[in-house]
Amino acid sequence: MEQLNKVKDGDALREFELKFLSRKGELSELMRGLKDVGVELKKELGEMANEIKKELIENFEEVKNNFTSSAGVKISDVSLPGKKFSDGHLNPISIIQQELEDLFTSLGFMIEDGPELESDYFNFTALNLPPLHPARDMQDTFYVDLKNSNGEYDLLMRTQTSPVQVRAMLKYGAPLKMVSTGRVFRNEATDARHEHSFYQFEGIMVGKDINFANLKSLLETVGKELFGPETELRMRPKFYPFVEPGNNGEYTCFLCKGKGCRVCKHTGWLEIVGAGLVHPDVLRAGGLDPEVYSGLAFGFGLNRLAMLKYNINDVRLFNGGDIRFLEQF
Ligand code: DAH
Repeated sequence: MEQLNKVKDGDALREFELKFLSRKGELSELMRGLKDVGVELKKELGEMANEIKKELIENFEEVKNNFTSSAGVKISDVSLPGKKFSDGHLNPISIIQQELEDLFTSLGFMIEDGPELESDYFNFTALNLPPLHPARDMQDTFYVDLKNSNGEYDLLMRTQTSPVQVRAMLKYGAPLKMVSTGRVFRNEATDARHEHSFYQFEGIMVGKDINFANLKSLLETVGKELFGPETELRMRPKFYPFVEPGNNGEYTCFLCKGKGCRVCKHTGWLEIVGAGLVHPDVLRAGGLDPEVYSGLAFGFGLNRLAMLKYNINDVRLFNGGDIRFLEQF
């Protein structure tokens, strides 16, 4: 102990360690010497020797620690390679979301959020889908098991981001240019192409004289941003209750450039976006007069976009939480 107290620098510390604590040091020597004494004595001395050893090592460690921190003696080896901190990775959905948000904010659109737990009214009725409307069956809905004071089930997990259109019109009025991204929920049996929750990107633009040409040019701009400058758009009629006329926007396949391949199922076109001119009933639900205002609206499925763009073959990977999947982006 006395010797230990005299230790003043790194060299002396190492010398002490060598002299007393190493395999050939005095302490080991002492322990080895015990084999020559009688059994009784051996037991007694052995216990004592172990006590001393323990105490000595503890004290040694303490001196070593104090010493390292106060005198700044580096016991660590600075020539060892450093620890590498790996970067986190964005989910491919977030990458596409950010790309689209950048585009739309550059076009003067605001970004708005909406609730995932939505009312039946905003998710359906306000979007021209009153109770018992057959088109409600197009979306298998998770209703929430909670009745309101009228005994109705009026809460659900939103099946689409379209309710944010009406919420935004009520909040901001017209003119309005708004996009919204978010998670939506459907009671799907999951497989490689179906998931119970996925992401949509929604947009609405309302003002005076907004027309179909505005919608077409906007969707063309989006297509070129997503899939490159040669991308073409075709629009085919499709029924969505909240738009009139409603249509499906299809882009030339980015892989075969329209010739036909496995990705576009040999049609040359990819169905990407639901869109149309906002139905007068939806404008009314948003508190706007359809005689004065008109609007365009569109909605993308972000999972589908990401699957096409990054060649992902199973939609369940997005929610799977497997780090190896995310590390690829
Ligand atoms: N909400 C539709 C869906 O989930 C997508 C959609 C279609 C959004 C047409 C729109 C639209 O805004 O105008 O299938």
